[in-house]
Amino acid sequence: MNSPARTGKPLLLWGPHYRLQIEELDQQHEEITVLLNALYAAHRSGAPRAETAKALDRLIPAVARHFRAEEKLMRNSAYPGLEAHAAEHSRLAKRVRAFQKEFRAGRAELTDELIRSLADWLRDHLLVSDRRLGGHLTRVADSKLPV
Ligand SMILES: [Fe+2]
Ligand SMILES: [Fe+2]
Repeated sequence: MNSPARTGKPLLLWGPHYRLQIEELDQQHEEITVLLNALYAAHRSGAPRAETAKALDRLIPAVARHFRAEEKLMRNSAYPGLEAHAAEHSRLAKRVRAFQKEFRAGRAELTDELIRSLADWLRDHLLVSDRRLGGHLTRVADSKLPV
């Protein structure tokens, strides 16, 4: 089987199965996918460390902004799963920030394994937690309550 690493394919292919039909979130999810693939491509191509650092510096704030946007929608719509969902975000954010700190200090390097684990996290989170939230937001919008 050809792994993405060998074929140069993106790590995570954005597609309709990830769409929640909520434009703001779909756009942010797609952007994160693009930035994660860019990080992977920079890493795989053996780009200088400064390049992968830049790709990381674009990805991490985009993820942080997205988490804030989602959590705001959860609060504004009285989402019952807010606490558990926000905890998933915060565990990931903490892990990524800790890595970034070590990376900047030159004490850690990016690995395929790390980038793949981010892609796996994102895929699972999109298909389970975000999809559940999307269903809730759609129901709230359909009932004409303010979101
Ligand atoms: Fe989420
Ligand atoms: Fe999300």
